[in-house]
Amino acid sequence: MRQAKKQNNDLAIDRLVIVSNRLPIALTRVDMGQWQVQPSPGGLVTALTPILSERGGLWIGWPGTLEKVNFHELIAGAGQDLGYVLEPVSLYKEEIDQYYYGFSNEIIWPLFHDLQTRCNFDPTYWKMYQSVNHKFARVTAENARRDDYIWVHDYQLMLVAKELRSIGVENKVGFFLHTPFPPMDIFVKLPWWTQILSAFLEYDVVGFQTRRDRNNFAYCIETMLKGVQVDARKQVSTMKTPKREIGIGSFPISIDFRDFAGLASSSVVSQAATMLREAVPNQQIVLGVDRLDYSKGIPEKLRAFRNALERFDDLRGKITLVEIAVPSRDDILEYQTLRTEVEGLVGEINGRFSQSGWTPVHYMFRSFERTELLAYYRAADIALITSLKDGMNLIAKEYCTAKVDENGVLVLSKFAGAATQLDKDSLLVNPYDIEGVAEAIHRAYNMGINERQRRMHRLRRAVARRDVFWWVDSFLKAAITREQTT
Ligand code: UDP
Ligand code: G6P
Repeated sequence: MRQAKKQNNDLAIDRLVIVSNRLPIALTRVDMGQWQVQPSPGGLVTALTPILSERGGLWIGWPGTLEKVNFHELIAGAGQDLGYVLEPVSLYKEEIDQYYYGFSNEIIWPLFHDLQTRCNFDPTYWKMYQSVNHKFARVTAENARRDDYIWVHDYQLMLVAKELRSIGVENKVGFFLHTPFPPMDIFVKLPWWTQILSAFLEYDVVGFQTRRDRNNFAYCIETMLKGVQVDARKQVSTMKTPKREIGIGSFPISIDFRDFAGLASSSVVSQAATMLREAVPNQQIVLGVDRLDYSKGIPEKLRAFRNALERFDDLRGKITLVEIAVPSRDDILEYQTLRTEVEGLVGEINGRFSQSGWTPVHYMFRSFERTELLAYYRAADIALITSLKDGMNLIAKEYCTAKVDENGVLVLSKFAGAATQLDKDSLLVNPYDIEGVAEAIHRAYNMGINERQRRMHRLRRAVARRDVFWWVDSFLKAAITREQTT
C-alpha cells in the first residue's frame, strides 16, 4: 500500500465504484466440493486491484462461476480482507456463452485488434450483450449511492452508461477501454456500430490507452454521428451533444511500480530466480508471457525464434525461450486452434534443434502466481513481446520493473500500447517481420552490460514515473474538471 487509505477528498470523489466484467477474484470448485478463491486473469485486474486497495470503494463484476453461490459468505469464509467491497453479478450459462464468449470475445475482441476476419457476427450475440449490460447496470444502480463516481471498464460493458441512464441513474459515469480502438473503416464493419458509438455519448469521460486509440474514436464520432461536435486539440478533448459534454482522453495504464519492485527484490524472489538460472547454465533466457490469445503473436514469436536459431550459429545451445502461455477463453474454437498451432511449433522447434543438455523452448501452459512470475522476470536476460496489437501489455512494464539489477533487454512489438512509452530504450519490432524479430533477438543476446543497464535504467524510470496511481489520478482529474466546467 502506498500510504494510509485515501479518502478521495483530493479528487472530490465520495466513493469509487468500479464495474468490470470480472471481479478481481474468481471462484472455482475444486475437490470435495470446496471452493477456491483465485486472482482473475489479465491486466485489467492487475491494474485496478491496487487502486481499490488504496482508495477503498466498491467493485462490481462476475465472480467467474456459473454456479449459484452465497458469494458474500464464501468470501468471508476465505478470510480475505481486501479493504474494499465486492458485489457479484451472477450470470447464466447462456449469458456467458453469448455475451462473454460470443459478442465480447468472438466479435469485439478480434475487431478491436484489427482482426476482423476472425469475427463471428452472430446476431443472437447482440441481443444478449444488451441484456447482460442491462443486468450489470441494474446491479450497479442497486448498490451505488448518489455521490459515487461510477467507473465502467472495457469492451464487455460499453452500453452500461446508456442502461444506467435508462433506469434513471444520474451519477457521473466514466469509461475506460483497455483494448485498442480500431480505425473507422474497421469499426464500421460491426453491424451494430451506430448503437455502440451512440452509447458512448452517455458517459462523462471516455478514456483510451493511447492517443492513436483516442483519435480513432474521435474520428469515428465526428464522421459518423450527426450533431456531435468534437474538439480534439487538447490532451483531454471534448465531444459536445445537445445533452452533455464528454471528455475523451488517452491515459496509458500501468502497474503499482513500488509494489512490484519491492517484491522483486525480496529474498524469496531472488532465490527462486537463482534456481531458474541454474537450471539452464551458460545460457541466456528469453522470456515470453502471454495469455494464449491470437492477438499476442505467439506463433509469430516462435517462428522468429526458429529463424534466429537457423541463421545465427552463436545462439544454438546458448539461448532458451521460456514461453508461459496462460490458458484463456478456451471454449472458443479460435483459441483451441491457436493452442494446437503453438504446441505444434514448440514440438517442431524442439524436435529439430534440441541437443543433449539443451532444449530450445520451455513451454508452460498454465498461470503463475505473482512471486513465481517475478522470479521468471528476474531470471530472464531478454523479454520478448510480439503482440500483433495490444491495448497496453503490462508484461512489458512488469518485466522492466522487476529487473532491479537493470541487466535485461526488452524486445517489444511496436503494435503494443506500451511501445508509445517504452519505444526509445526497448528494441522495437514488427512481429510480422520474422527476420527482423530474429535479428532483434540476436542483437539483444549480444548487447553488452553497459548498454543493457543504460536502457533498462531509463525504461524503469519511465514506468516508475507513470505508475498506476498516476493513471487513476489523471483519469479522475479529467472527470472532476469536467464536473466543474459543465
Ligand atoms: N499474469 C499472471 N500470471 C501469469 C501470467 C500473467 O498473473 O502466469 C498477469 C501479469 O502479471 C499481467 C497480466 O497477467 O499483469 C497480463 O496483462 P497484459 O496487459 O500483459 O495482457 P492481458 O492478458 O490483459 O491481455
Ligand atoms: C484483457 C481484457 C480484460 C480481460 C482480460 C482477461 O486484459 O482487456 O477485460 O479481463 O484480458 O480475459 P478474460 O476473458 O479471461 O477476462
